[in-house]
Amino acid sequence: MIGKGSENDEKMTRTGSVAIVGAGRLATFLAVALRGAGFTVSEIVARDLPGSLRRARSLAMKVGAHATTADRASLDASILWFCVPDREIRRAASSVANRLRVLAAAKNRAHPSFAFHSSGALLSEELDSLREIGIAVASVHPLMTFVRGAHPSLAEVAFALEGDGAAKQVAKTIVSKLGGESFSLPSSRKAAYHAWATMTSPLLLAFLVTLEAAARGAGLSREQARRMSLPIIRQTLANYSRLGSARSFSGPLIRGDAETVAGHLLALKKRPGARDVYVALARAAIRGLPVKNRDELKRLLK
Ligand SMILES: NC(=O)c1ccc[n+]([C@@H]2O[C@H](COP(=O)([O-])OP(=O)(O)OC[C@H]3O[C@@H](n4cnc5c(N)ncnc54)[C@H](OP(=O)(O)O)[C@@H]3O)[C@@H](O)[C@H]2O)c1
Repeated sequence: MIGKGSENDEKMTRTGSVAIVGAGRLATFLAVALRGAGFTVSEIVARDLPGSLRRARSLAMKVGAHATTADRASLDASILWFCVPDREIRRAASSVANRLRVLAAAKNRAHPSFAFHSSGALLSEELDSLREIGIAVASVHPLMTFVRGAHPSLAEVAFALEGDGAAKQVAKTIVSKLGGESFSLPSSRKAAYHAWATMTSPLLLAFLVTLEAAARGAGLSREQARRMSLPIIRQTLANYSRLGSARSFSGPLIRGDAETVAGHLLALKKRPGARDVYVALARAAIRGLPVKNRDELKRLLK
């Protein structure tokens, strides 16, 4: 097995080239990161639409790649990496598989040995059309948020790997070259994993936007709320990182100040969305944090 792994690693590093499908948030980050880690990004494969091609060209220019579409792509990289929305992975993979079938007629040309997608929720089966033509496939999900205008470090970032052994082995090597840390995720656990992953950033943002709404009741604008809340949010995260959840917990619930909580619920009546979130989180605190005066608080939060 170890021998097989190093053979695959060798196959990957021999060419060290990656073709990226898509030119959105993850693709933009990944193309630059792969280039920085010494890989060649050969092609950025886009849909045959003017806007898509424009975005692909702009990304291709950044990383010295060629922008193309699935039916014109050379696909001579050793790795294909699908960075398209989850709902598009199967369709994009099948377009690329069709193109590879056409290209297979030409002898002595390099072709991809591995294909990845980066959905945290979907399985490597989304790439079955490529598996059917002999490509080892895996899902490779970075537990990180990628948005335009930010280039996060991948140091210590966890990547969940699922799929064919050979593809996972190669993904592990790439992740390590990018500075991340990979772990194998059984396919039966992917949905639960991604529910959790969605809470770490997208739903944390949903919480922050709810905070802004709640601050309106105190006469603060969204911008003021964002600026004023950041020091305490940063300190809470620093405490959580150093001390864990229970020892970072402060406020009326740990003190058991039920009257204060009752006052909050009254004040938030005019903002039912924020009140719902407050109640759900206060109940979560009762379940998982050191709360005093539990019974009275439970009654209040029914
Ligand atoms: N962003 C993150 O923080 C993050 C984190 C971890 C994992 N992921 C995963 O990464 C994948 C991509 O997410 P994203 O956030 O980068 O999405 P995104 O910003 O919406 O980008 C999607 C890209 O895919 C292109 N695309 C759509 N259909 C295509 C097709 N059939 N062929 C070629 N290109 C196509 C879109 O191009 P046009 O619309 O211009 O045609 C766009 O460039 C998803 O599976 C997601 O779960 C994302």
